Amino acid sequence: MISFQNTTVKYPLGNKALDRVSFDIEENEFVYLVGPSGAGKTTILKLILNEIQPTEGSITIDDMEISSKKFKSVTKLRQNIGIVFQDFKILPEANVFENVAVSMRIKGFSSATINSEVNNALKTTGIQDKKEMFPAQLSAGEIQRVAIARAIVGNRPIILADEPTGNLDPKTTWEIMRIFKFLEKTKTIIFATHNTDIVNSMKRRVIVVQNGRIKKDMKKGGYEL
Ligand SMILES: Nc1ncnc2c1ncn2[C@@H]1O[C@H](COP(=O)(O)OP(=O)(O)OP(=O)(O)O)[C@@H](O)[C@H]1O
Ligand SMILES: [Mg+2]
Repeated sequence: MISFQNTTVKYPLGNKALDRVSFDIEENEFVYLVGPSGAGKTTILKLILNEIQPTEGSITIDDMEISSKKFKSVTKLRQNIGIVFQDFKILPEANVFENVAVSMRIKGFSSATINSEVNNALKTTGIQDKKEMFPAQLSAGEIQRVAIARAIVGNRPIILADEPTGNLDPKTTWEIMRIFKFLEKTKTIIFATHNTDIVNSMKRRVIVVQNGRIKKDMKKGGYEL
């Protein structure tokens, strides 16, 4: 479903951030991206979002080459991808409901559709009872639930998570992982993390990136990081 073929990225003012990276991710697969700081994890996620283009090689999603110069459907591509960051990126002046609704409002969906989709997403992440609250009134774990609801609203099949538990305590981290465990049944999830406790206990495929290269690509289970 998501395929990197010899993908190389050289940022204008830097060395190679990725060097001939190749992998295939199947539909509904859950994959960890791990590796030291600066390894290239976020760069991989930015390529999938078409935020940056590779210097060499290609990226295809559902047989569409998004790295091609001819690719013009960036808006449509992003409608299929939800993103969750370490630092949440929630709008402080909007309440929980509106934070989750924002992309659907921009796309012009009817209020009734927005209502039902947003409520579904909030229910999935367990924050439905706080929908009138503002971010300043919520805990970090609750804010991350809002961010995940925003990422899945409107039935997006792909979720990219960049260190989504980085600012959370261990208990809250596991609550958030329980949500990802539910989501993986119906979504393709790429989960970049430094948290070896998560990777070692919720065992899934692990792609280890180091110095812009894939060091290991390990199938579910049978490893310790
Ligand atoms: N905009 C940029 N311009 C130049 N170099 C960049 C840029 N963004 C990232 N890099 C470099 O590319 C390499 C990979 O960075 P990337 O952000 O992908 O790492 P990462 O694995 O996500 O690290 P972390 O775990 O710290 O988030 C690093 O050497 C980084 O300095
Ligand atoms: Mg990163």
